[in-house]
Amino acid sequence: MGRPCHTLLFRQPAREGFAVIAHRGASAYFPENTLLSLEGAIDMDADMAEIDVLLSRDGVPVVVHNERIHRATGGRGRVAHYTLAELKRFDFGYRFKAARGEQIPTLEEVLELCAGRIALNIEIKSGAVQDVVLGGVEELCIDLVYRHGMESHVAFSSFDPRALLHCKIIDPSAVTAVLYDDRYYLRTQTPAAIVEHLRADAFNCSKEEITEKWMADCAAHGVPVNIYTVDDEKTMRRLIAMGVGGIFSNRPDVLRKTALEAPSVVR
Ligand code: G3P
Ligand code: MG
Repeated sequence: MGRPCHTLLFRQPAREGFAVIAHRGASAYFPENTLLSLEGAIDMDADMAEIDVLLSRDGVPVVVHNERIHRATGGRGRVAHYTLAELKRFDFGYRFKAARGEQIPTLEEVLELCAGRIALNIEIKSGAVQDVVLGGVEELCIDLVYRHGMESHVAFSSFDPRALLHCKIIDPSAVTAVLYDDRYYLRTQTPAAIVEHLRADAFNCSKEEITEKWMADCAAHGVPVNIYTVDDEKTMRRLIAMGVGGIFSNRPDVLRKTALEAPSVVR
């Protein structure tokens, strides 16, 4: 039996059952979560790109990791306090000399760039999630994904379990991945049980959290496991040997090479 892996990719992964996931795009080389970093991920032959989504003050899904804009732009304030037009005035490429002036992309712009080219993991950040089931960030994202014909190539993930449940209520065919956060689950709950309870399709956690026991539990239940964020080859090799279905890396080129060179593991 091969390792469980996302089935959303545009082509058979270069390595059976293993997805190279570019974390915030090829973010070691380009400003994270920008169109530049996504073009980089496509050029580096990643199978999927992960992006983070928050809402602007005027309710537009924008692609950015932190609720405050300081880390990405050097500016002040919160994403949710600026309209899209105001956010577009900040320099999201300021950390990279060659990328100065790069703007924050909307989810719509990202979908336009990625449609037909690379699968997406849309991480809905907790700061955008509300108790409302309809009309919230989840429905906005799902609508955009359908409008770009990407519904068979997108997974939605979130640390906030409400976002995963909202996605499944809005669209039962939406693919979702639990992003493990121990504040929400009892120690006694296994990953496969969490995935089942939330009607999700995959289990994502950090390299520090994953254990052989969790891997065995997921394998026994056919649950794909994706691990973040791994930039060193030694950890990549160890995780691939453990049977993970995907790794999020800021260096998708290094992950691609390492995955191809790793001895095959049949479980
Ligand atoms: O989706 C994996 C990873 O991106 C989750 O953590 O903080 O990098 O969004 P973070
Ligand atoms: Mg993320």
